[in-house]
Amino acid sequence: MRPPSVPVPADGAVHRADWCPVGDAATFRLDGHVATITYNRPDALNAVNGEMRRDLNDAFLRFRDDEEAWVAIVTGAGRSFCAGADLRDGTGSTGEFAGTFWEKPTLNSFESGWEIFKPVIAAVNGYCLGYGLTLASWCDFVLASDRAEFGLPEVKLGVPAIVASIRLPQRLNWADAMELLFTGERISAERALAMGLVWRVVPHDTLLDEANALAARLLEGAPLAQRAMKEMAMRTRHMATLEAIRFGETMRHVAGGTRDAAEGRQAGAEQRPPRWTGR
Ligand code: COA
Repeated sequence: MRPPSVPVPADGAVHRADWCPVGDAATFRLDGHVATITYNRPDALNAVNGEMRRDLNDAFLRFRDDEEAWVAIVTGAGRSFCAGADLRDGTGSTGEFAGTFWEKPTLNSFESGWEIFKPVIAAVNGYCLGYGLTLASWCDFVLASDRAEFGLPEVKLGVPAIVASIRLPQRLNWADAMELLFTGERISAERALAMGLVWRVVPHDTLLDEANALAARLLEGAPLAQRAMKEMAMRTRHMATLEAIRFGETMRHVAGGTRDAAEGRQAGAEQRPPRWTGR
């Protein structure tokens, strides 16, 4: 039996071998500062069943809390990114967590309090449907293979796509969002690019190289400054301008007091590349 998630050690030390294990239905790999989270049920086109939901939650929890993980790439094993909720598994995509009115934060809806401010790249390698599209539309960058297809089949199953109904109108033109929500039809990567759902379309075989190249560019920036900016961008959507600026100035002082901010100033004065530590 798979061990339960292990909390981050109280001393803050990262004992990576035994800390927050992630299962097989979704995998977590850390290369330097780049975490790759992979949907890993290729025989079911990476449909989300209870096991995958649990493993994805563990993977994102680990990404959020591992001080060495600065950027994430999310992708799918095989020919699909994620075919949405598993329609055949009895436990359903909710797994052990059936949801409550006061929903605890999970990948079901990141906005409900599970706050991850590190940059996340979706490397969409194939079908990106239902929950798959919901997750991709939460990512900072949606990099798509020219074979990718996007869609929200929920309406054809007689159910609403709730989080996509919240998120897509914030990200796309109203009519484009409603087209996806109301028709349930799949669209090509090119059409998704034209809508602004996708950031860039690349040849299929180069997808992961392109995602890693983007991750390398992101690592050139100071990780804590990036997190401060993402938190600003996310939180201030719902703030009045004055409160947003007051919050921003506080964040400027918090981020400005880090070792990396001192390193950035020193590297600038010495005209050398900075060496970030994420501290
Ligand atoms: N849940 C469970 N299994 C799924 C699945 C899902 N959402 N989507 C695909 N699979 C399985 C298929 O049952 C099939 O399994 P099998 O080989 O054991 O028969 C395998 O994945 C391959 O799927 P297949 O339909 O043969 O591939 P395809 O390329 O012809 O079609 C899709 C791909 C994604 C268009 C099609 O599988 C589909 O429409 N899936 C359902 C998508 C959906 O409605 N998701 C729910 C969103 S809320």
